[in-house]
Amino acid sequence: MNIVANWSYPTAVKMGRGRIKELADACKSLGMKKPLLITDRGLAPMGITQTALDVLEEAGLGRAIFADVDPNPNEKNLEAGIKAYKDGGHDGVVAFGGGSGLDLGKCVAFMAGQTRPVWDFEDIGDWWTRANSDGIAPIVAVPTTAGTGSEVGRASVITNSVTHVKKIIFHPKFLPGVVICDPELTVGMPKMITAGTGMDAFAHCLEAYSSPFYHPMSQGIALEGMRLVKEFLPRAYHDGTDIEARTNMMSAAAMGATAFQKGLGAIHALSHPIGAVYNTHHGMTNAVVMPPVLKFNRHTIEDKIERAAAYLGISGGFDGFYDYVLALRAELHVPENLTAMGIANDRIDELSAMAIEDPSAGGNPVKMTLENTKQLFADCF
Ligand SMILES: [Fe+2]
Repeated sequence: MNIVANWSYPTAVKMGRGRIKELADACKSLGMKKPLLITDRGLAPMGITQTALDVLEEAGLGRAIFADVDPNPNEKNLEAGIKAYKDGGHDGVVAFGGGSGLDLGKCVAFMAGQTRPVWDFEDIGDWWTRANSDGIAPIVAVPTTAGTGSEVGRASVITNSVTHVKKIIFHPKFLPGVVICDPELTVGMPKMITAGTGMDAFAHCLEAYSSPFYHPMSQGIALEGMRLVKEFLPRAYHDGTDIEARTNMMSAAAMGATAFQKGLGAIHALSHPIGAVYNTHHGMTNAVVMPPVLKFNRHTIEDKIERAAAYLGISGGFDGFYDYVLALRAELHVPENLTAMGIANDRIDELSAMAIEDPSAGGNPVKMTLENTKQLFADCF
């Protein structure tokens, strides 16, 4: 089954095998003549990146690349990227990669026209209105994993290199003008990354679906996103060259990030501090803390999860759904708990304090307090 599709929700999405060939046309459609491709160091020398640069060069758009991007990009990477963008006289950004390349690329495009420091645009209240929106450069996003969904997101996560705290930088115009989802770019992902990023997409859908805010559109997207993960993540994991599975996982990732405008929750609120302190893989960490969080929220989400289970073809209501999550984790070789992930349980107080301050905490169906979050963390070991 060869899936090819063009969507304009939540932005223009060009989905299908081989569509990286349309990268230059996508750039031109947004008025770019001299784009800067931004990706991380690991991806820069790889064949898929060179192919993308070839496509740009053949169309007369040059082959400029900035790849001085750390796995959790910080404000220093951002400053260097803005300098490369300005020095090169660029007029748009191709944000290319997993979360790091996409987030930094989007943020460089945003900051290229701002005069205030990036932290002034943290996702708090109406801080985004401080921005000069005319100065924001056009963005084409090209994901090379299927998890973060940053390609359809209106924010970037930038880590403060001094405090190590991750900040969400938000503006509606972070949303790329064109997204190219070419599943062939994800074929080379190692199994562990396929599993981790796929579980991140699942966590986005599950937390958006479970969060208490009124947003029925997100609810529907999250539900179908979970179904796609259920059907296709094991296939993509066991056979990385299964293009149908890879395509559907790219859809699930974009759907998760579209849905979580509604809210995230305790899975992400726990996972963010663990990642900040121990440098664990974000999606894998989500998968590790997912069962205890489901139990933590059970009394408020039981009806909802029963409906989801029915839609996903899982019998047994909430318990059936819970068992399904355990089975999926086992199939993907997710560590059983934080101890199995190699983390000691001696910093629970500190992690809990960070978790309740995390922006995701507010979307959890059960209010997270220091006391119940400490207990939740203890249950994750
Ligand atoms: Fe996530």
